[in-house]
Amino acid sequence: MKIIMLGAPGAGKGTQAKMIAEKFGIPHISTGDIFRSNIKEGTQLGTEAKKYMDQGLLVPDELTVKILLDRVAKEDCAGGYVLDGFPRTIPQAEVLDEALEKLNEKIDYAVNVDVPDDNIVKRMSGRRACLKCGATFHMEHIPPKQEGICDSCGGELVLRDDDKQETVQNRLKVYHDQTQPLIDYYTKKGVLKSVDGTMEMKAVFQLISEIIKEEK
Ligand code: AP5
Ligand code: MG
Repeated sequence: MKIIMLGAPGAGKGTQAKMIAEKFGIPHISTGDIFRSNIKEGTQLGTEAKKYMDQGLLVPDELTVKILLDRVAKEDCAGGYVLDGFPRTIPQAEVLDEALEKLNEKIDYAVNVDVPDDNIVKRMSGRRACLKCGATFHMEHIPPKQEGICDSCGGELVLRDDDKQETVQNRLKVYHDQTQPLIDYYTKKGVLKSVDGTMEMKAVFQLISEIIKEEK
């Protein structure tokens, strides 16, 4: 089963994608997480990506597409995957579709987690991410047991560089200009499912679970 998560920055794509991955036993693939781990390791890709990410801009398609196609070609993706943060532009979606067509495969669901812009800014300022394992917490909604420390691995929790308020505004603008058109794209393909992402996380997951039926 192949699932795409769509939604504004901070809509809860990552939160829901992790739960889906666990429930269905498929890998959770976040291009944002791949870029952040490259930044942490100081790779050339990380240095290049950081220039864009810190401004709230998209990393160019040429860099992003290759990474994603390499990742989904790995053995653990044979039974499907949940993509979080990819595609983010129409050209990215087209490249993915072409690659899948060659394998006689297709996307089963594009889940749009719908949250209005004003809710987003509040969420982002409360988010804390683990530097070591990428787990996310929220100061109000999912506080860690011990302040500043990751419950899963004991790593340090930080405010992401691109979660600063001005950058969040840029990311929202980029989302509306470049990513929102994908909602029409996947509607036309008949795979778009929208859920109200303003509800409590478990309630959002319940809705998504009702949509995703394993037998598809
Ligand atoms: P990426 O890491 O994908 O960031 P994003 O899309 O901006 O999304 P976020 O990770 O910020 O939000 P999310 O929807 O995953 O929300 P989360 O679950 O964490 O990308 C970062 C950057 O990398 C991009 O800006 C770009 O530069 C680059 N990039 C990545 N992919 C790219 C691509 N394909 N092409 C080009 N560039 C690319 O939730 C947010 C917070 O809210 C958390 O604290 C969470 O705990 C809380 N929360 C979640 N759900 C709820 C709920 N229901 N109620 C209350 N709080 C909630
Ligand atoms: Mg995310």
